[in-house]
Amino acid sequence: MTRKRVAVLISGRGSNMAALIEAAQAKDYPADIALVISNRPDASGLERARKAGIAAIVVDHRPFGSDREAFERALDAELRARRIELVCLAGFMRLFTPWFVARWSGRLINIHPALLPQFKGLDTHRRALEAGVKRHGATVHFVVPEIDAGPIIVQDSVAVLAGDTEETLAARVLEVEHRIYPQALRLVAEGRVAFASASEPVKATGATPTK
Ligand code: GRF
Repeated sequence: MTRKRVAVLISGRGSNMAALIEAAQAKDYPADIALVISNRPDASGLERARKAGIAAIVVDHRPFGSDREAFERALDAELRARRIELVCLAGFMRLFTPWFVARWSGRLINIHPALLPQFKGLDTHRRALEAGVKRHGATVHFVVPEIDAGPIIVQDSVAVLAGDTEETLAARVLEVEHRIYPQALRLVAEGRVAFASASEPVKATGATPTK
């Protein structure tokens, strides 16, 4: 088995990144976390990655101003220089242009802290509590140009409990995230989940049904 070379893109603490790094330590895991990139120099996840012996670099978006594609070209150059095959977004707080998404189509996945298609965007835990849903969770999906809209790879949920606050609910969902992201990356790295190219109908196979 050749392990896929994976980059994890972060902007913050990187707990999902850490879950992927830990999973990839298993001998039979089909992916290697070969690179971590943060767009923010102060992301605490960088240190966490380096402590685990992983190359961790900063590609700061700020010098590029409003030229998002120029930032993405710099990112893309780093990914290619290190022969990265799959990219995992893990709390990466930048939107991508259609150019970058097309370039990495089928090889770019994201984790979102909600049961998509519910609660796309930010503040998912607060909005789930306000909506009064009985279950809430997390989703790993392929990235498409529309935000939080790509085909689902793995999704799982937890009960929303009486007395839950944003913090308690977020903590319970985070445990789900740490479990499903390594599962999803395994499926993609093993080629058991496929994503048709942009010119064909968009579909994923082998998705795990929501509980
Ligand atoms: C996670 O909840 C992730 O789903 C969301 O941002 C958070 C990042 O947390 N997109 P971490 O940096 O992985 O700890």
